Amino acid sequence: MAKKRLRLTVNGVLIDREVEESLRLLDVLRDELFLTGTKEGCGIGECGACTVILDGKAVNSCMVLALSADGGVVETVEGLGSPDRLHPLQASFLDHHALQCGFCTPGMLMSAKALLDEDPRPSEEEIKKAIAGNLCRCTGYVQIVEAIKDAARRRSPSEV
Ligand code: FES
Ligand code: FES
Repeated sequence: MAKKRLRLTVNGVLIDREVEESLRLLDVLRDELFLTGTKEGCGIGECGACTVILDGKAVNSCMVLALSADGGVVETVEGLGSPDRLHPLQASFLDHHALQCGFCTPGMLMSAKALLDEDPRPSEEEIKKAIAGNLCRCTGYVQIVEAIKDAARRRSPSEV
């Protein structure tokens, strides 16, 4: 199968490699770069488990051909925080018990981050709209919405 050159900035690191034309952004992240925090649920754009931020917008990475993102800037959950310095969204999700199995969490966090990057003080309706494409089988969403609201309150400009 034909390969083409792909350049991406992923979590601040420039990636430059040949990839199969048919690979999705999700495949490159998980299988080529071993960033397995981004999950594959449905593979058809329905569940949001694969959500990453591409050029400032939350996208379903299972629905993006990797080469179509050439030159783009990608943020994944691995770039969000670290165990000793959690992003305010991660800290807030923990404090509000906004995850159980955790499968939806990376995608949920990235949808929430894209929202807060664009609007630091979203309304509850805006939060619900931003995560409408992220399915969670465990929590019932109430804690997730509360966690995102709280993260917006906590997040200082220096942590954006
Ligand atoms: S795996 Fe991409 S939307 Fe479900
Ligand atoms: S925490 Fe299990 S699917 Fe959301």
